[in-house]
Amino acid sequence: MENKFYVTTPIYYVNDVPHIGHVYTTVAADILARYNRLRGRKVFFLTGTDEHGQKVEKAAKDKGLSPKEHADLMVENFKKLWVKLNIKYDAFIRTTDIEHKEVVKQVLQELYNKGEIEKRLYSGWYCVPDERFWTEKEVEEGKCPDCKRPVEKITEENYFFLMSKYQERLIKYIEDNPYYILPETRRNEVLGFLKNNVLGDLCISRPKQRLAWGVPLPFDDNFVTYVWFDALTNYYSATKYLAPDSDIWWPADHHLIGKDILTTHAIYWSAMLMALDLPLPGNIFAHGWWTIEGKKMSKSLGNVVDPHDIAERFGSDAFRYFLFREVTFGLDGDFSEHAITQRFNTDLANDLGNLLSRSLTMVEKYRDGIIPSPVEEQDREELEKKVKARFQGSEENLFSKIDNHFKYLEFHNILALIWSVINDVNEYIQNAAPWKEEDQDTLSNILYTFVESIRLIAIALFPFMPDTAQKIYNQLSLEGDISKLDLNKHANWGILRPGQKISKGPALFPRIDIKKKV
Ligand code: ME8
Repeated sequence: MENKFYVTTPIYYVNDVPHIGHVYTTVAADILARYNRLRGRKVFFLTGTDEHGQKVEKAAKDKGLSPKEHADLMVENFKKLWVKLNIKYDAFIRTTDIEHKEVVKQVLQELYNKGEIEKRLYSGWYCVPDERFWTEKEVEEGKCPDCKRPVEKITEENYFFLMSKYQERLIKYIEDNPYYILPETRRNEVLGFLKNNVLGDLCISRPKQRLAWGVPLPFDDNFVTYVWFDALTNYYSATKYLAPDSDIWWPADHHLIGKDILTTHAIYWSAMLMALDLPLPGNIFAHGWWTIEGKKMSKSLGNVVDPHDIAERFGSDAFRYFLFREVTFGLDGDFSEHAITQRFNTDLANDLGNLLSRSLTMVEKYRDGIIPSPVEEQDREELEKKVKARFQGSEENLFSKIDNHFKYLEFHNILALIWSVINDVNEYIQNAAPWKEEDQDTLSNILYTFVESIRLIAIALFPFMPDTAQKIYNQLSLEGDISKLDLNKHANWGILRPGQKISKGPALFPRIDIKKKV
C-alpha cells in the first residue's frame, strides 16, 4: 500500500537498563514516524523487547527471579524512558507475547515442512554472551571474533536453517537494490562478506537441557528456538496481532538498527524471508556507534550515560536534537557533556530561542501583540523575498528538500538546513531593522514575515523536537495539536491568520552556564 509507512527499531534485550544506544535508534524511528504522519501516511511504528535466550536467563538468575518476572520489571524501564523522550510508538512487542510465540512456531513449521530446516550433529565453538557458534577458522586464539570473550567447544545435535543456499540470491538482491542496505559503506561490507566467504547454514535451535528459556520448536520439544530467529520474526509477527489491519503492513519500510547487528538483519533475516517467500523490507539502515567522552561505553569503565538523567537536565528535545545534529546518521559519534551544552547554548538558546523571543517581543512592542496583516503590494522588498523563497514554490524550498533528505535518513542535513533558515531569518531581522522602520505597512510586513517564518520552522522541527514545536505554536496562539497538522496544507506561506494575539512565553532554552556543573 502506497500510503502506509512501517518502521521498526531493534527489540532490546531486557538483561540491562536502556542506554544512549537504545535511545538513538528509537528516537530515529520516532522522527521518521512523526514525519510520515505529518505527511498524511498511515504509520505503524514498532519497538519492543527481546526477552528469550541465555543472556536474559542469566540476568534473571543473578537476581533470583524467573526470566519472565525479570523481563516484566525491565520492560518498564524502557517504557518509562520512551514516555520521557516523547517516543510515540504504535506498538510495543515482547517476544514473550503468546501471539508472537505462535507466529514463530508457524514460521518454523512452515520452513520445516518445506525442507528448509534439517537436523544435524554439530560441533563448534560457542560464544555464550553472543549466543552463537563459530567455526574453527573463525575463532581467534580461543576467543570470539566478535566480542573477544573465550568460546567453548560444544558438540550436540541441532536444527539448521539451510541458509547457505541463499548466498547467490542475497548477493543479487543487494546488488539490484541499492536502497536495501544503507549507508552504502555498510552495503559494501555485506556484499564483501557474501562474496568472499562461504555462507554457512544457521543453527536455529538450542537443546532444552542447556537453555530452557525460549520458544519450543514445534516439531521437536527437546529444543528451543535460537534467540535471534525468534527475535527477527518480531517484525513480521507484530503485523499479525499488534497492528490494525494486519494485511497491509508487511514488508516494513525501514528496519533501523545499529551496525553491530547488521549481519543478523541483512543476511539471516533476508534469507529467512526468502525461504518463506515473503517480500523483503524496503530498507535496512545501520547507524553508527556512540562513544562517551571518547571512550567505549562500558559498565566496567563506569561511563554509561543514563538517558533519563540527560533528558531531565537538558530536556528531552535538546537531547533528541543533539543526537541527530551532532553526528551524521550512519557514522560513529561521541557524546560529551561539553558538546551537548555547546549545542544547547549556541543552536538552541542563541539561534532558535532568540529568534522566537525577539520576534514576539517586537510584535508586542509595535502591534500590541496582534499579528499584523501583511500588505500585498509591499511584498517587493528583496530581503523579504529571500526569506519567503526558502519556504515557497520551487523544488528548492525547505519542505521539498526535507522530504528528499528523509528518504535517505539524512537527519543531520535536515537539521542543518532548518538552522540555515533560522540564520537567514535572524539575519533578516538584523537587516530589516524594524526598530528603525517608519512606514507602517512595511513594518507590518516585516513582523508578519518573522512570525510566519517561525511557524514554518516549528513545523519543520516537529519530528525532531515535538515539545518545542508545540510550545512555539502555542506562543503564536495557534490552537490544537501540532502533530495533527497536514503538512501538504500547512507547510505553505501565508497560513498564519493576522488579527490573533500572540502569547509570548518563557524562554525556550535558558542558557546553561558552562562553568556551573549542570
Ligand atoms: O542487539 N551506539 O539488543 P540490544 C549506538 N536484542 N547504538 C547502540 C549502542 C551504541 N554504543 N549500543 C547499543 C540486541 N546500540 C538484540 C536485537 S533485533 C531483532 C534484536 C543500539 O539491547 C543499536 O541499535 O543489545 C543496537 O543495534 C541495539 O542498541 C542493540 O540493542
